[in-house]
Amino acid sequence: MSIKECKLIQLPKITDPRGNLTFIEGNHHIPFDIKRVYYLYDVPGGAERGGHAHKQLQQLIIGISGSFDVILDDGHEKRRFHMSRSYYGLYLGSMIWRELDNFSSASVCMVLASTVYEESDYYRDYQEFLEAVKIKQ
Ligand code: TYD
Repeated sequence: MSIKECKLIQLPKITDPRGNLTFIEGNHHIPFDIKRVYYLYDVPGGAERGGHAHKQLQQLIIGISGSFDVILDDGHEKRRFHMSRSYYGLYLGSMIWRELDNFSSASVCMVLASTVYEESDYYRDYQEFLEAVKIKQ
């Protein structure tokens, strides 16, 4: 997948003086069925997460609270996204190397994923990822 196919998706937002509400339906607001949800929290200042790509997995990354940056890399091009709104999700297809940094205090990064956790779906070595990108072209 090219980095150009990764995109910020604006999610529905029901504004209300009692507090706003956002919802996400799989295969409707995002292009996959949701099989798993996980979140990063209690991230210490200066920490970096990610540092991998997936062979098949699709994901939506949401800055539920606070803010952080996501750096995407398709092996040719890199782009940095600042996530600070809980009604925007960053859609990532397969074969995209991602790193997360610049976490603010009390930030929460929630991820919706298209499959259950499978270690065999990861590229954790950047050189191996670059080789795989070349072969797939
Ligand atoms: P990892 O995906 O490397 O985290 P990040 O990319 O956010 O830095 O996962 C960290 C650890 O958690 C690793 O040992 C695998 C485990 N893990 C699960 O068991 N299930 C999951 O759904 C996820 C995302 C991770």
